[in-house]
Amino acid sequence: MLLKWEPIYSVNVKEIDEQHKKMFDIINRIYSLTEKSIKEDESLKVIEELIDYGNYHLDTEEKYFKKFDYPDTDSHIAQHDNYKKRVLEMKNKLEKSSDKEFYIELSNFLRDWWLGHIQNVDHKYSDFFNQKGLY
Ligand SMILES: [Fe+2]
Ligand SMILES: [Fe+2]
Repeated sequence: MLLKWEPIYSVNVKEIDEQHKKMFDIINRIYSLTEKSIKEDESLKVIEELIDYGNYHLDTEEKYFKKFDYPDTDSHIAQHDNYKKRVLEMKNKLEKSSDKEFYIELSNFLRDWWLGHIQNVDHKYSDFFNQKGLY
């Protein structure tokens, strides 16, 4: 297992914490692809889930930014857009080569990005959302 959700990662909004936990599960499943012989279609399926569920999660946050007129909306969305671009680049790379190295690189990128983003960027909206009544 690569990522274990801990209370320090909480952003104090239940729906969003649940989504972050589910992202950790998906990332752990991608990491597990480094430990066994890799089946091509199985790995493509989990990468698609990473993209689909990831987009769903980022859209959820952006929906609340809009709804509550969150002051840091633009810079936060720019970080999401940058992430989406990098994940698509990774997916294109996967279509060319899907060796162990690839999954190690992808897992490390995902771990670093999600831990950094949740703790440094998502955490900033906690008080604001809570003041708007979102817990
Ligand atoms: Fe998030
Ligand atoms: Fe975010």
